[in-house]
Amino acid sequence: MTPRSLALPLLTAALVLAAPFSAKAMQSSTTQSPYGKLPDGTPIEQYTLTNESGVTLKVITYGAIITELRVPDRSGAFGDIVLGFDKLEPYETKSPYFGAAIGRVGNRIARGRFTLDGKTYSLAINNAPNHLHGGLRGFDKVVWKAEAAKGPNGAPGVTFRYTSADGEEGYPGTLSVTMTYVLTNANELVLHYQATTDKDTPVNLTNHSYFNLSGRGDILGHVLRLAASRFTPVDDTLIPTGAIAPVAGTPMDFMEGKPIGRDLGRLANKPQGYDHNFVLDSGGGHLALAASVYDPASGRALDLLTDQPGVQFYSGNFLDGTLTGKYGVVYQQHDAFCLETQHFPDSVNHPNFPSTILHPGQVYRSTTIYRFSVR
Ligand code: BGC
Repeated sequence: MTPRSLALPLLTAALVLAAPFSAKAMQSSTTQSPYGKLPDGTPIEQYTLTNESGVTLKVITYGAIITELRVPDRSGAFGDIVLGFDKLEPYETKSPYFGAAIGRVGNRIARGRFTLDGKTYSLAINNAPNHLHGGLRGFDKVVWKAEAAKGPNGAPGVTFRYTSADGEEGYPGTLSVTMTYVLTNANELVLHYQATTDKDTPVNLTNHSYFNLSGRGDILGHVLRLAASRFTPVDDTLIPTGAIAPVAGTPMDFMEGKPIGRDLGRLANKPQGYDHNFVLDSGGGHLALAASVYDPASGRALDLLTDQPGVQFYSGNFLDGTLTGKYGVVYQQHDAFCLETQHFPDSVNHPNFPSTILHPGQVYRSTTIYRFSVR
């Protein structure tokens, strides 16, 4: 064999050997870049996390907002599966909490009032007649301190820190919050929340990502399964009545899995759609599967695990074609779903709901995992 004829089989063998490695040997990384400036000049940074299979998460220090999440479909094509904007300004002025961290108390507090340790507190009514998602300047609108972090097995991550002053948005106590976002090499986004306080205060932290597993269009064909045989019925201002009712025989029954659109037309609320807290059968307190979503069109699937006792399933009812997001896409009603892991809405005013009160000396800890796969 001449040296020349030997070269080709050797090269082919090298390529064959290299192929499986190059498919998975992508280096995971966390990088940082400037994203924009607030009107007062405060710089906002973006962190980009990439795992070994190329899944990418982009998150900014304003509101710890997830601005982009790229995962593969069944053919291996990567697509952005969260709603959002392509610059900072709309996040400040008109975002319905796209991708944001939510606190100090997620969801509603009736009439913005609660009594704790004998004192009555009055909070902003920013969703008349109630208080919603922490108030006028909730954790979605503050600037978080961030630094690159590493998760298990060197997975890329970022840690966010924010200290909410005593009295901020009307809440008692200085609350020190640390959140770590990790993108594992098993294509999981792990959000870990931790908080301490110097006075009794309600705490209910979550993330408000709007998902669309197809990337665009409506989510009514996505198949949702919820591990919740009960939910908390609400009045017409979306405040729980206090009842914990079975889902059986109602449009709320996602126990076996069904397309989100199947029973949506039977809901009486306006604008029509799901905006309900589901009471997870796990009871909370340990990580358990809360929801599974599958998009038959793209093959993308999402499993949601949490240690929280509830999840707010919101079907993007208030999206109405007035917001233009990334890639020039106009967001219409039901173009996304949110699964906000949480304690129940208005828990501070319902002694029969699991307590949201954090005491000095205690550590609030919560973990939610978004696990992506294809079928
Ligand atoms: C609430 C919705 C609200 C949305 C904000 C959800 O958590 O339950 O009622 O409209 O957040 O866009």
